[in-house]
Amino acid sequence: MEHGVLQAQPDQWLRKMLPDEPVVFFDPELLQANARTFIAGFPGLVTYAVKANPRPEVLANLAAAGIRAFDVASPEEMRAVRSVYGSCALHYNNPVRSLAEVGAAVAYGVSSASVDAFGELDKLAPLVGIEVAVRFRLDVAGGAYDFGSKFGASEAEAVELLKAVKARGFVPSLCFHPGTQCQRPEAWARYIEAAGRIARSAGVEILRLNVGGGFASDRGQGAPNHGAVFAAIEAAARRAFGAAPPALLCEPGRALAAPGVALVLRVKAVRPDGSLVLNDGIYGGLAEWRDMPAGEMRLVTADGAARATSMAPRVIWGPTCDSLDRLPYPVDLPADVQAGDYLFCPGMGAYSQSIATRFNGYGPGDPVLASIGSGH
Ligand SMILES: Cc1ncc(COP(=O)(O)O)c(C=O)c1O
Repeated sequence: MEHGVLQAQPDQWLRKMLPDEPVVFFDPELLQANARTFIAGFPGLVTYAVKANPRPEVLANLAAAGIRAFDVASPEEMRAVRSVYGSCALHYNNPVRSLAEVGAAVAYGVSSASVDAFGELDKLAPLVGIEVAVRFRLDVAGGAYDFGSKFGASEAEAVELLKAVKARGFVPSLCFHPGTQCQRPEAWARYIEAAGRIARSAGVEILRLNVGGGFASDRGQGAPNHGAVFAAIEAAARRAFGAAPPALLCEPGRALAAPGVALVLRVKAVRPDGSLVLNDGIYGGLAEWRDMPAGEMRLVTADGAARATSMAPRVIWGPTCDSLDRLPYPVDLPADVQAGDYLFCPGMGAYSQSIATRFNGYGPGDPVLASIGSGH
């Protein structure tokens, strides 16, 4: 895909093409500009969590913006990154792996991995010598949902694991994830304070502290204050580790991937009860809207006609034959929304294309280059 050649302004493009399928607009300049700002602000190394959006145009534009290391969860993500950027560093931070996956990690030459249990550390024997970060969990609110329910050692377990990481010949580090779309800087501060306690109790000097992903993205609710989070992280690291804190790194997914993509859906029908059926839903591009607070849906009419300024809540259904294909909460839209209208959703680059399925033959297609910021 060509970078920097923006072919479309979204609203004009929609009115000219009148697409009946869901449309993905991709803005490489917006993606890169946002990534550069993030990289300049974070007090350490910024890596990208590929799971948020592994599409080649996203990886290539993040590399162009300066991303040199990638958090990968699977051999397929390792392959995707290496096919776009051969010499980058791979951080294998899915804490649970099969032995076959460890073999693939050896072949791809991963430079670090995370663990949260002794059984998983045993499996990493073929990778001895690399950096291994012990992932720990706390009971801290802030993310959109609880990331500690699946992964992470307790503080006490992390102390023992960290000692073992060092004793077995790995380079010891620590990592955590405060939960995705985390809006509270104090969540990072509490984790970093715990990291200091764990390293001290283990008597192990750590190379790096990975402060995870979780940085919020703007889905139409307003720009998140990353600066406040970065400042809290830096201050907490100084408090927890004193004059010589470990090098910091982070692995944002949504904060880097979300801004460059907008999803546009079309109203297929206004049902007799007033609910709307769209041409995509939770099995497609709205997958993430099932679990996350709603973002913005801006109405664009096919012919440019105005719609009412008064808003009314609408139940939203996806296009499949499954009655679970419904957003869990109503969305406020102009009261006279009609079949044929488009709904423009900004900030949809994270966990939308990567989760979407083709169930019932629906789902978003390939992206259209566009200037999202100046689209209407
Ligand atoms: C280990 C790890 N790192 C980073 C991320 C990215 O998180 P986010 O998209 O909230 O930044 C995730 C998300 O699942 C993760 O599991």
